[in-house]
Amino acid sequence: MNEITVRAHTNIALIKYWGKANVALNIPTTSSLSMTLDRFYTTTSVAFAAQDQLVLNGQTADATRVHNFLDMLRAKYDDFPGVLVTSKNHVPTAAGLASSASSFAALTGAMFRLLELPEDLTEMSRIARRGSGSASRSLFGNFAVWNKGEDDASSYAESFYDEDIHLSMLVAEISSAQKKMPSTRGMQLAQTAPTYRSWVEKSAGQLEEMKAAIRQADIEKIGRLAEDNALGMHEQNRLCAEPFDYFTEDTRRIIAFTQECYKSGLLAFVTIDAGPNVKIITDKATEKILLEKFRANFPEITFDVAHAGGGLEYL
Ligand code: DP6
Repeated sequence: MNEITVRAHTNIALIKYWGKANVALNIPTTSSLSMTLDRFYTTTSVAFAAQDQLVLNGQTADATRVHNFLDMLRAKYDDFPGVLVTSKNHVPTAAGLASSASSFAALTGAMFRLLELPEDLTEMSRIARRGSGSASRSLFGNFAVWNKGEDDASSYAESFYDEDIHLSMLVAEISSAQKKMPSTRGMQLAQTAPTYRSWVEKSAGQLEEMKAAIRQADIEKIGRLAEDNALGMHEQNRLCAEPFDYFTEDTRRIIAFTQECYKSGLLAFVTIDAGPNVKIITDKATEKILLEKFRANFPEITFDVAHAGGGLEYL
């Protein structure tokens, strides 16, 4: 039996994707920029089978999203039989890292090889985008930009800067009893905020500044921009027609502590995705001292350290 196995890493956006210009095609309202992480990844195997089926972390799981994605491939390319998708997420569930990014990137890579499609990363990124927007960026190592585009052909991610600039992320694993607002719905609600347009406009300028900061390996500037962009994203959630908030008390405590660390002269900034967890942006030279401080101040919270990771790998 022909089985293909692929690994893709998660990514954290420094300039966020948070809104859809076209829901069916997953075309975003903003271009976004991310760093792929070395520590967290998904491994996915695919093989033809009687029907579409998903085994996730060793257990049969709801295959609806995978099945819809495979049907999209069937419509776009030649029809093909059912597919058994066996996937393992090496992402701590409490870390609030989008496993959909690494999952759909890995599934895209695996399906392209199974179907013997030309492995063109631009086309693969367009396809991964249809599974989950952030997945379009997870095919690439280090820094990737997803240019929002205006239609299916023009909306894809590409490698922006394929070098390690010694950026570190401390990932705080805050667990939350709060019912989670899925990102797909959350971002569409956020788009109803009266301030949403201005966040989108600001984001375009921040993207260009972020690109310059990465090229200069200016982590302080990267951190400042990423923090402002992320806090702005979360502000839209609070100001929209049906307000919601991913932050918990722990989220706010960690943000405040990070800002104190920065005031005391340490490189430390936050970014936060669709959950309560905080990622602290710093550099490799500062990560140890920062980690000690966070562990001492928040003994009940687990902190991981991640660095820039590589792109899609066939195993
Ligand atoms: C906050 O890619 O999970 O992580 O396209 O609806 O699947 P869908 O959304 P998803 O959204 C990720 C949002 C984010 C920011 C980002 O990764 O850019």
